[in-house]
Amino acid sequence: MYLQTVTWVHHWTPGLFSFRVDRPQSLRFDSGEFVMIGLPAEDGKAIMRAYSIVSPAWEDHLEFFSVKVADGALTSRLQHLKIGDKVLIGRKPTGTLVIDALTPGKHLVMIGTGTGLAPFLSVLRDPATHERFENIIITHTVRQKEELAYSQFLQEEIRNDEIFGELLRDRFTYYPTVTQGEFHTRGRITDRIREGLFRSDIGLTTADRPDSRWMICGSMAFNKDMIEILEGWGMTEGTRSNPGQFVVERAFVG
Ligand code: A2P
Repeated sequence: MYLQTVTWVHHWTPGLFSFRVDRPQSLRFDSGEFVMIGLPAEDGKAIMRAYSIVSPAWEDHLEFFSVKVADGALTSRLQHLKIGDKVLIGRKPTGTLVIDALTPGKHLVMIGTGTGLAPFLSVLRDPATHERFENIIITHTVRQKEELAYSQFLQEEIRNDEIFGELLRDRFTYYPTVTQGEFHTRGRITDRIREGLFRSDIGLTTADRPDSRWMICGSMAFNKDMIEILEGWGMTEGTRSNPGQFVVERAFVG
């Protein structure tokens, strides 16, 4: 286990926050993977939870995106993190949301709910993603629009980025949806996909399906619904040893 120092904390809403720790020099990971994180405990029994890494593999920090749960075993304490605090980081990042688990395609569609957005922020900033796919789409579904964390980053900042601005021009779509409250794209992403609204909004047709590859990250019920949609189109789930048309992160809870 590594013991790393918190370098940045940002609270998005009363229920959501992000933080960074300095990166252990020997830690390597593939964009889209998760790692176990925890806090040192006085009795020596640290509680560890799986967290997707938000930051790209080339950054010198590790960033995480978390809910705050008042009685949550870990997040009740994690939400009070301050710069300079120590966080335990597991030694073995792993996970299924990696482009190597997908067969070659044209369109990479990453569908997330809540903090399930996290791994896609890493995949988006991996140069390999841009070599393999022509067109990249990230959707984010939340209840209230205030919960659209990273929206300014996805809408504006990355498009003005020195490296990624050029790379993503005309090739990247950020597609937020809100299920409770007014918003220009309302409703569950699963419903918008089934109703054909999603594909028409992003300028794809059913003819593009064979060239599309999907990454899914959200609650268990959401994952199940998305798998049903994709399998209904005849797609199969991929793993690193047997790549397919879609991948799902099952370790994610949130
Ligand atoms: P909804 O408000 O309709 O439940 P949660 O915080 O419960 O994980 O939900 C995050 C977002 O994911 C919410 O906008 C929620 O919509 C949506 N969601 C929850 N379950 C599903 C599902 N089975 N399919 C699609 N979206 C879902």
